[in-house]
Amino acid sequence: MGVSRRNFLNVLLGGSLMGWLASVLYPILSYLRPPKIPEANVNSVKVGPVDDIAPNSAKIVKFGRKPVILIRDDGGEFHAFSATCTHLDCIVQYRQDTKQIWCACHNGTYDLRGRNLSGPPPKPLDEFAVNIVNDEVFVSKPKQVS
Ligand code: FES
Repeated sequence: MGVSRRNFLNVLLGGSLMGWLASVLYPILSYLRPPKIPEANVNSVKVGPVDDIAPNSAKIVKFGRKPVILIRDDGGEFHAFSATCTHLDCIVQYRQDTKQIWCACHNGTYDLRGRNLSGPPPKPLDEFAVNIVNDEVFVSKPKQVS
C-alpha cells in the first residue's frame, strides 16, 4: 500500500511539473516564433505625379512590404530597383553627388542600372519597371522572362 501511494505521489508531482513547464514554455515559444502574415500580392504601385520627383533625386516607395528606390536621373529618365542591399539587406540610397546608389552600411555602390560596382554587394539589385500614365509614375514588377 505504501509503494502505490509513493507511485501516486510521483505521478502527481511529475504531471504537475510537466504541466507547469508547458505553461511556461508555450507562451515563450509563441512569442519567439513570428506569426505568419501572408504577403500582399502587389503588382503595381502608384508613386505620384512626375513633377514631384526632380531630376537627379530619388524616393523610397513601399512595394507591398518591400522598399523600392525610384530614381530620376539627370536626363529625367526613371529607374527603379529593390532598395534592399544584396549584401546584408540594408536600405540603399541615391547619392546626388556621385549619381550612384549607395549602401551606407559597408560602403557598397551600384550604378543606375542596378549593377554592383564596388564594396561587398555580391550581385545587382533587382530591377522594377517604371511606367508613366497620365503624368503619374507607376512602379511595377518586371515581367518574368520564361
Ligand atoms: S549591407 Fe550593403 S554593403 Fe553591406
